[in-house]
Amino acid sequence: STISSYALVIFGASGDLTRRKLLPALFNLDCAGKLPKAFRVIGVARTAMDSATWQRQAAEAIADLGDDAQRAAFSKRLVYMPADYSSVADCNRLYDLLYNCDDCFESQGKVLFHLAVPATVSEAIVHALGKSRFAPQGRMVGNHAILVEKPFGTDLDSAVAMRKLLMDTFEEEEIYRIDHYLAKDTVRNLVVFRFCNAMFEPLWNRNYIENVQITVHEKLGIEERGEYYDQSGVLRDMIQNHVLQVLALIAMEPPIAADAESIRDKKNEVFRSLRPLFPGDWVLGQYDGYRQADGVNPDSTTPTYAALRVHVDNWRWFGVPFYLRSGKALTDKLTEVVIVFRTIPLCVLDDPNSCASVQRNVLRLRLQPQEGIHLSFNVQKPGIANEGIDTARLHFNYDEVGQITHESYARVVLDAMLGKPGLFWRSDSIETAWEFIAPALADEKNAPPEGYPNYQPGSNGPASAAKLPQQAGHNWYS
Ligand code: BG6
Repeated sequence: STISSYALVIFGASGDLTRRKLLPALFNLDCAGKLPKAFRVIGVARTAMDSATWQRQAAEAIADLGDDAQRAAFSKRLVYMPADYSSVADCNRLYDLLYNCDDCFESQGKVLFHLAVPATVSEAIVHALGKSRFAPQGRMVGNHAILVEKPFGTDLDSAVAMRKLLMDTFEEEEIYRIDHYLAKDTVRNLVVFRFCNAMFEPLWNRNYIENVQITVHEKLGIEERGEYYDQSGVLRDMIQNHVLQVLALIAMEPPIAADAESIRDKKNEVFRSLRPLFPGDWVLGQYDGYRQADGVNPDSTTPTYAALRVHVDNWRWFGVPFYLRSGKALTDKLTEVVIVFRTIPLCVLDDPNSCASVQRNVLRLRLQPQEGIHLSFNVQKPGIANEGIDTARLHFNYDEVGQITHESYARVVLDAMLGKPGLFWRSDSIETAWEFIAPALADEKNAPPEGYPNYQPGSNGPASAAKLPQQAGHNWYS
C-alpha cells in the first residue's frame, strides 16, 4: 500500500520522546524514501515558540544522522503550533492549519494524531478533538487515525475511561496503541522462532520447561523524565506493557495465521490466563538517588525496579513460574528471555561428580543488546581419563543474518500510517493487563520492609528480588 499526502500531528512536540525517538525515526523514514512527498509534521506543545525554533531543536535531535541536504529537506516538513491541550479553539486552529490555508494540505490526505504525552494529558486532547471541527458530530470525519503512547491510562478504571473516550470519537481501527517493543526485530522474531521451527515447539510446555525468566534491565536512570516517571514507575512504564507483551509472545498458543487479529487473539488468551497476583509475588525497588532527581517527589515511593513471579494458568504452562524483572539504573542494559529446561530424570553415569555437574539446558533469547540466541547443553570433556562433564554453548548472533534495526519507532509510525494494526495493543488485552497488575500497583505506596532506597545505581537491583525464584529452588540467570 502507498500513502499519498499525510500529516503527522505530534502532541508533545517539545518532549523527550519526540526528541529521542520520533524525530530520528521520521528523519530516517524520510531518508529511506518511505514518506510521501506531501508529508508534514505538525508539532504541537504548550511551549510558546515558532516553527524556526522547533526546527532548530529538531536539527539537534538528528544532528548525528544523514547529511546536511537531507536534514535541511526534513526540516522543511516541520511546522510548530503552540497550544493548550484542552482547548477546543486550539484544535480548531490546528484544523485550519491543516485544511484552511493556501499551501496547506490536500483535503484527501490523511492525518495521524500522535499523543506523545502522559496519559492524563492524552485525555484532555482527545476530549478537545472530539469537540472540535475535526469531529462535527462528535466523531472524526475523514481520514484520521490516532497513535496513543503507553501507558494506556494509569490503571484499569482510567484505561476503560480512555477506551470509551477514544471510541466516542474514533473507530477501533483508527486507534493505534503503541508498544515499541513489538516493533523490535528480536521481538518480532519470537513468533518466527517458535512457529517456523519444528524442534522447539514440542518442548515448549510444562513437561520440559521448568521456568521462564524475562529480564528488561536498563543501565540509564530516569534521566530528564522525573515528572513523568514519578507518576508512572516501573510497573506502568515497563511491566504492564513491554514485559507482558514479551511474556505473551513466549507463552501464546500457535496462531492459526500470522495476521494481526489471529496473533492478538492468542496473546489475549495468555493475558486472560494470568493467575491473579498475591502479596509475595512481587518485589519492588527504588535506586539510591532517585528521589533527588528533578521532578521527583523527595518522599516518592514510586518503584524504579520490579520483579514478579507470574503463572499462566492453562494446560501448557500450569505450574511453570514466569519470573519477570525490570528496572532502571542497573548494571547493564539487557533484555533477555531465558527458558530453563527441566533436569534430566536420572543420571546414568558411573561417576557421581559427573552427575553433579550436569546442568539444565538453557535457551537464551537475547533481545538486546548483542542480539542473538544461545543454547547450553552438557558434553563429555575430552581426555584419556574420565575428565567429567562440561557445559557447551551454541551461539547465534543476529549480525550473522543482517543488521538489527534499532528504530522501532520508524516501524511503528510507518505501520500506523499504512493502517497495519499488528504491532499495537488491542483494548481488551490492555484492560486485562491492568487488572492483572493492580495488586502490585496498590502496593506501591508501601515502601518495602527494608525501606527505600533499596538498591544502588549500577547494581543488579534489590537483593530481595532473588527470593522469588529461590522460593521454588530456582535462580535468576544473569
Ligand atoms: C519506554 C519507557 O517505553 O521504553 C522507558 O518509557 C524505557 O522508560 C524504554 O527506557 C526502553 O526502551 P528500549 O527500546 O530502550 O528498551
